[in-house]
Amino acid sequence: MNLVLIGPPGAGKGTQASMIAKEFGVRHLSSGDVLRAERAQGTELGRKVAEYMGSGKLVPDKMIIEVILAQLTHGDDAGGFLLDGFPRTVVQAERLSESLDLAGRSLDAVMEIDVPDEAIIQRIAGRRICPQCQTVYHLDAQPPNVPGKCDRDGESLIQREDDRETTVADRLATYHEQTRPVVAWYESKGLLHKVDGSRSVEAVSASLRQVLQGLCGE
Ligand code: AP5
Ligand code: MG
Repeated sequence: MNLVLIGPPGAGKGTQASMIAKEFGVRHLSSGDVLRAERAQGTELGRKVAEYMGSGKLVPDKMIIEVILAQLTHGDDAGGFLLDGFPRTVVQAERLSESLDLAGRSLDAVMEIDVPDEAIIQRIAGRRICPQCQTVYHLDAQPPNVPGKCDRDGESLIQREDDRETTVADRLATYHEQTRPVVAWYESKGLLHKVDGSRSVEAVSASLRQVLQGLCGE
């Protein structure tokens, strides 16, 4: 299955992508994680994107399209892929579609996790991540077993630098302006499945699982 997960910042894309990748055997590719890894390694791309990411703006299409399409072309995704955070503009969606066409592949579904803006602020304020393996936690909704430590590798958890309240407002504005049209674009192509993301992690997982089982014909 080739899938796209779309939704506002803090909607739970990363959280749900981990579940889907594990249960359905698809490769999870998060554009944000890819960019954060470039930044952590101090690559040329990482230095170029740092300012955009820190201010809640999208990085230019040209930069992100190249890096994500390269990962899709060269990565091991025999079981399919799950894109999280890409595409985020209509130009990115068009380029993805062209690239898949050329490779004789196509998308099976685009799943939108819909969460109202008011809930986003609270989710992002409580988010902590592992800088090593990128596992996502929440102080209340998904706390680690040992406070402040990653369950998987014991690393000290950190707060993302773009999770400050002022930056979150900018990220939300960017989402409404540039990414909502992508949702409409996929809807017009009959690929969109909308899920109410304002419920518990488990309830959202159950709805996504139902969509995917429907696609698998189970
Ligand atoms: P990116 O890393 O993709 O950030 P984002 O889209 O803002 O999404 P987040 O990762 O913040 O949220 P999420 O939906 O994954 O939620 P999570 O599961 O963590 O992008 C970062 C930046 O990179 C962008 O701003 C941009 O600059 C750049 N970029 C990336 N892709 C780009 C592209 N394609 N084009 C241009 N620029 C690009 O959950 C959030 C919190 O809520 C967690 O604490 C979690 O535990 C909790 N939670 C999750 N689900 C629930 C629930 N149901 N109930 C309660 N709490 C929950
Ligand atoms: Mg994420």
